[in-house]
Amino acid sequence: MSMNLIFLGPPGAGKGTQAKKTVEQCSVPQLSTGDMLRAARKDGTALGKKAAGYMDSGKLVPDDLVVGIVKERIVRDDCSNGFILDGFPRTLGQAASLDRMLAEIDQKIDHVVDLVVDDEELVGRLTARRSCSACGNIYHLQFNPPPSPDTCECGKGLVQREDDNETTVRSRLEVYHSQTAPLQDHYEKQGLRRKIDGGGRGPDEVFSSIKEILG
Ligand code: AP5
Ligand code: MG
Repeated sequence: MSMNLIFLGPPGAGKGTQAKKTVEQCSVPQLSTGDMLRAARKDGTALGKKAAGYMDSGKLVPDDLVVGIVKERIVRDDCSNGFILDGFPRTLGQAASLDRMLAEIDQKIDHVVDLVVDDEELVGRLTARRSCSACGNIYHLQFNPPPSPDTCECGKGLVQREDDNETTVRSRLEVYHSQTAPLQDHYEKQGLRRKIDGGGRGPDEVFSSIKEILG
C-alpha cells in the first residue's frame, strides 16, 4: 500500500528530522524542496542561481521553479510506493499544482503531518542547528549534539546553513505565517491535517505521535 505524506510546519519545526525517521519506518523517499534547491546551488545550475537570492533573504522561491522540480521528482520509480513531501507545498498555489500533478498520476495525499511549535523555540533550534554536508544528518548543539561541534557521526564535517542566522530565521518565520500557515486551514477542510505537538518534547516523542497516525 502506498503512503503519500506532506510534512507541513514552520522553519525548524522538525520536518527534516521527522522525515528521516519516517523514511526508515515506511521505506518511502524524502522529497525535501529545500535540500533539492541547496543541491542545485551547490552544483551551480540555472535553477540554483535563480533560487539563491530568495533563499538567502528567507523568502520563498517562486512557485513555478519549485513546482517544476517536484513534478520531475515525484514521477521517479522510487516514489511508486509513496513519498514524503518535506517543505512542499508552501503556498496555496503550490497546493493547487500538487493536486493537479497527483491527479495526472492517479495518486492522492493520505496525511498532512502538521508540526506545531512556538516561534521562540524555533529561533533557538535553528540558530544552533548543524547538518552534515555528506550524509544529511541533522544535529542541534544542545538538544541533539554531534560527537564534536564540527564533526558528524559519519566522520565528515558539519556545516551551519547560511539562512540559520537570527535575522533570516525571523524573516522565514514571517513568510511562514503569511504564506504557508493558510495551508493548515486548506488541509483541515479536506480532512487531511494531522496536528502534532512538535515543541517542548524530544524528536523520539514527536515521532511516537507520527507513528500513531501512520498506523
Ligand atoms: P527548507 O530547507 O525547507 O527550510 P525550512 O522550511 O525553513 O525548514 P528547516 O529545514 O529549517 O527546518 P525543519 O522543519 O526541517 O527542521 P529540522 O528537522 O532541521 O527551505 C529553505 C528555503 O528554501 C526556504 O526559505 C525557501 O527559500 C526555499 N524553499 C524550500 N521549499 C520551498 C517551497 N516549497 N517553495 C518556495 N521556496 C522553498 O530541525 C531544526 C533543528 O531543531 C535541528 O537542529 C534539530 O536537531 C532540532 N530539533 C528537531 N526536532 C526537535 C525536537 N523535538 N526538540 C528539540 N530540537 C529539535
Ligand atoms: Mg528541513
